[in-house]
Amino acid sequence: MKLITANMKSRSYLDDDFLDYDPDCPECRDGWIRKGERVGRCLCGKKKDTYRRIIELNKIYPIADRLREKSFENFKPKTDSQKQAMELMQSGKACYLFGPWGSGKTHLLSATMNKLQDEYIMALLISAPWLFEKIRRDLFNNWEIEVLETACKIEYLCIDDIGKEKPTGLIEEKLFMIVDRRLNEGKRTSFSSNFPLDDERLNLDNAIKSRIHEACEIIFVNGSDYRKIK
Ligand SMILES: Nc1ncnc2c1ncn2[C@@H]1O[C@H](COP(=O)(O)OP(=O)(O)OP(=O)(O)O)[C@@H](O)[C@H]1O
Ligand SMILES: [Mg+2]
Ligand SMILES: [Zn+2]
Repeated sequence: MKLITANMKSRSYLDDDFLDYDPDCPECRDGWIRKGERVGRCLCGKKKDTYRRIIELNKIYPIADRLREKSFENFKPKTDSQKQAMELMQSGKACYLFGPWGSGKTHLLSATMNKLQDEYIMALLISAPWLFEKIRRDLFNNWEIEVLETACKIEYLCIDDIGKEKPTGLIEEKLFMIVDRRLNEGKRTSFSSNFPLDDERLNLDNAIKSRIHEACEIIFVNGSDYRKIK
């Protein structure tokens, strides 16, 4: 039975090697397909693998229920810049969203993560202070590889509230490694911050700022504090 549909082909987890195969896993006996000597995961097998990885990821980096509810459908832009930010995030581009408190930045990052995870794409939202804490713990435990490896494997990473806390020494170095490696591997990283990239109040190393410039659309998300006007 032919399992490959146009819709499935567009998914990023597909491996081109297998697109021409007629899977011999009639939906889905064991998650594998065979062609001659070669055997590989079928499409449903790959989908299940990614789903399992997302579940594991969410165990290590739990997402608050409140953020799970955020979507593009329940984001109601009130300003042009909010509309533009929403459209760019919806298009899947990596963005650096900056703007005042309560203008919807975290909402848009959460909506992006939720949408991508629903499509079986490895996506994660983590706040910068929490990411730094994870790095700190790894360094303390000499497991520095764990968070670095995870952060680099994720297909679309959202780092919330960057530049709020000044990363010190080793933590800044690790953050640089994450941002730099993700950029080199063509993996998307979006950020939120209260400050523009060139603002002195943004606690971030120039080498990281420069890479964000290269990799992201820089968007001012303007608007009144939604927390107050709701
Ligand atoms: N345009 C919007 N439509 C619907 N809800 C919104 C909108 N903008 C903000 N909100 C809601 O208002 C609250 C605050 O928004 P959010 O946390 O995204 O702000 P923020 O820009 O990240 O602020 P901060 O800079 O303080 O972190 C959230 O509950 C969010 O869902
Ligand atoms: Mg926020
Ligand atoms: Zn299958």
